[in-house]
Amino acid sequence: MFHYKNNRLYCENVPVETLADKAGTPLYVYSKNKLIENLNNYQQAFGGVNHLLCYAVKANSNAQLCKELFSRGAGADVTSGGELFRALKAGAKPEKIVFAGVGKSEDEIRYALKERIYMFNAESTEEIGLINKIAGQLKTKARLALRINPNVDAHTHKYITTGKSENKFGIAYQKAVEVYAFAKTCNNLTVSGIHCHIGSQITSVKPFYLMAKKMAELFMKLKKTGINIEHIDIGGGLGIKYHNEVPPNPQDLAKAVLPVLKPLNTKIILEPGRYITGNAGALVTKVIYRKAGLHKKFLIVDAGFNDLIRPALYEAYHLILPVNKSAHSHIADVVGPICETGDFLGKNRRLPLVKQGGLLAVMCAGAYGFAMSSQYNSRRRAAEVLVDKNNFKIVRKRETYEDLISKENSR
Ligand code: LLP
Repeated sequence: MFHYKNNRLYCENVPVETLADKAGTPLYVYSKNKLIENLNNYQQAFGGVNHLLCYAVKANSNAQLCKELFSRGAGADVTSGGELFRALKAGAKPEKIVFAGVGKSEDEIRYALKERIYMFNAESTEEIGLINKIAGQLKTKARLALRINPNVDAHTHKYITTGKSENKFGIAYQKAVEVYAFAKTCNNLTVSGIHCHIGSQITSVKPFYLMAKKMAELFMKLKKTGINIEHIDIGGGLGIKYHNEVPPNPQDLAKAVLPVLKPLNTKIILEPGRYITGNAGALVTKVIYRKAGLHKKFLIVDAGFNDLIRPALYEAYHLILPVNKSAHSHIADVVGPICETGDFLGKNRRLPLVKQGGLLAVMCAGAYGFAMSSQYNSRRRAAEVLVDKNNFKIVRKRETYEDLISKENSR
């Protein structure tokens, strides 16, 4: 949905330059129809089985984006009380909300139980005990899946690998039967699911297949001990194309896991985040200065790592495109205004000779972009705009200087 026409970059039918003129920069620009297309792709790939897609709100929690997804049948995968609050406000149905995370607090568990969410994905014996206790106090029953750590290597960046035994996530596969048996003894719990999420930006189906095999094995073992599993949650993690990757699509994912999971006759839960919002968004930034160093050229732009931290944190590659193409190009580092050397959006990029004041678009920034942004260096968080064909709407205003200090007390 981002494309060039007469050398100008468009989001759907609106020139990106128009959006920057109206809403300023740095600016997150999202394509509503790409978002919907991505959601439909995922839903259709699993259309042949009883499934529930719970969008991983952490990828992009903007209220309007969430609303678009929830109003089209998506549920929510939340990871904090704040995400639960956002999901409910944006119209997610409680019976379609799953709650993950290694460190759910007492308050968060109580809140989720009161809202009658569909499922807790519990990650430790102590957490199971606490959910059981709070459910008892509230005179209700909590529905539970156990998140299993299958010790499968997702072959992704080490910070976003979650399914290996050295990672903090889940219950070790070898201990799973024992922990299920314990959970079954808890009076205020209904234990009905197996959950796995082995990592993010996974670019081959093999790890998903290996994970599914382990889940199916566990399903059979539990059955033998009299524990019947009604749903299997395969998490998210499907990669997208940032650079040279050739990631599988949801169809490939379905083809890899369904032959293993379908015979079990359970409901399948999916928790995609990045696939849904990643390529539906770009971060638009303005060149403030151009500088030639001794050995390098720099384009100093008005977006910093407070706006998009992925390059600094994971050395992630995001394609950077000129908003207006031109014939001549050069190689430069695209860097932000923050007082740290790690503040870069791209290094050694071949880019057209952008003028001072010219615009660049950092592509595939719709997932873990704005959601991970901060006010570091007391920078106001960016505005966000959603484009729908010829129209657009500011879905989050740029923060003001007053916003920066509004919660502080210096009297
Ligand atoms: N389910 C669970 C339990 C998760 O922890 C995650 C992501 C997802 C689903 C969604 O995964 P996805 O489909 O988006 O890969 N900030 C990092 C990514 C962190 C992912 C954390 N968990 C990044 O910018 O690459």
